[in-house]
Amino acid sequence: MEIQEQTHAKSKQIFEHNRKYIPGGVMSLPRRVEPELAFERAEGAYLWDADGNRYVDYHAAFAPAILGHNDRRVNAAVEEILKHGPSLSGSGTNALEGRLAELMCTNIEVCEMVQILNTGTEATMAAIRLARGFTGRDHVIVMQGGFNGSHNDVACNVLTPLEVIGPRVSPGEYKYVPLGCGVPLAHQQLVHIVNFNDLESVRYVCERYPIAALITEPILQNVGILKPQPGYLQGLRDLADKHGFILIFDEVKTGFRYSVGGYSKIGGVRPDLAVFAKAMANGYPISALVGRRELMQLIADPNPAKRPFVAGTYNGHPISVAAAIATIERLLEGNGEIYRKLERLGQQVQAGIESILRSHGITGLVARQGSAFCIYFMDHEPQDWHDLARNHDFSCDMTLRRRLIEKGIYFFPVETKQCSISAAHTEEDIDVTLRALDESLRL
Ligand SMILES: Cc1ncc(COP(=O)(O)O)c(C=O)c1O
Repeated sequence: MEIQEQTHAKSKQIFEHNRKYIPGGVMSLPRRVEPELAFERAEGAYLWDADGNRYVDYHAAFAPAILGHNDRRVNAAVEEILKHGPSLSGSGTNALEGRLAELMCTNIEVCEMVQILNTGTEATMAAIRLARGFTGRDHVIVMQGGFNGSHNDVACNVLTPLEVIGPRVSPGEYKYVPLGCGVPLAHQQLVHIVNFNDLESVRYVCERYPIAALITEPILQNVGILKPQPGYLQGLRDLADKHGFILIFDEVKTGFRYSVGGYSKIGGVRPDLAVFAKAMANGYPISALVGRRELMQLIADPNPAKRPFVAGTYNGHPISVAAAIATIERLLEGNGEIYRKLERLGQQVQAGIESILRSHGITGLVARQGSAFCIYFMDHEPQDWHDLARNHDFSCDMTLRRRLIEKGIYFFPVETKQCSISAAHTEEDIDVTLRALDESLRL
């Protein structure tokens, strides 16, 4: 593929227009990045902006596109619903949502019952509410460097500057640093922030507060690919059993990306509740709260005092449910054939990038799980946010992302943001990416 000289005139025009009516010109603030691009079309592994520039896409819309954009089979399932229903009735149930629920309960070990919602935020909010209702406790533990959505309990402490939270403390906790204003102080006091891979701090917090739940991504994927150390997830399970809190795995990003059973299947540790979204429907809006029957049944408990309120007009929207069924059925085909392909492409990316970094004498590595990866400009894989924030070269990371975009390779231009390969990517796409990366580092 020839690298085209890019113009962004139309993107600029669209942004200028939209900024007059939409705060920041975007419908979700994390989308406001430089360069400011308006995207018009996506197909398989590619994105096109309004000026017709094509990009090999590794952003995948923050990770849902596991089969590739605009997957024909998923779209056909949606078209079938549009033509023949069911429609959103807002009353009772339908056979379609029962099919999705059964598919999930049959294939995901932690999933004994399911509640379908629309976004990751709604699902983590419902999970925490359910945990509070079940335990009768109010406090929750959240990870520094994790992201679990935009509600009050979790909209905090992702890429927090170390000057703000201070040096590593273990055992101990960090202050709640909101991602924006509007979170009542009284609420912040119920949330305890600890580092990932730090069991001692979880123990410390449990000995001081009545903890209802600990929520964590099993791999922190909003600061790259920050993996659990051996025994860490089991350690959380043991602490949950000892102190009586509900262990919630936020599998919004990890779920369906590495296996249909979620990361808990790979890691061998079973949470009490788990939350899925993103790759579950290849880009259609859906999420799921799943977990132990004893807990999930409370959502419909006849006693209102025991029943956490979980509801939504669009929950189980037939379009998204049909998209999820088609996506999951595709992922299940050929006994994991898609995951084997994704692993091969992931290995090609990792080996290629690490060899290029070596050839340029640059200290760095690829942290990777299957099809999700991140380049860290440091000499080891980070163990927690403090390690990452102190050692990663953020400026080199951002420069590389911007240069790649100029060359038609879309790495989301925010430092440490994870890249996702889809089943629509080819070895040729990876080769093109590696050549662009090599040239970008040569400058
Ligand atoms: C791990 C994780 N949990 C929850 C969320 C929130 O999901 P949503 O944006 O659908 O509300 C995200 C979003 O990126 C996420 O990455």
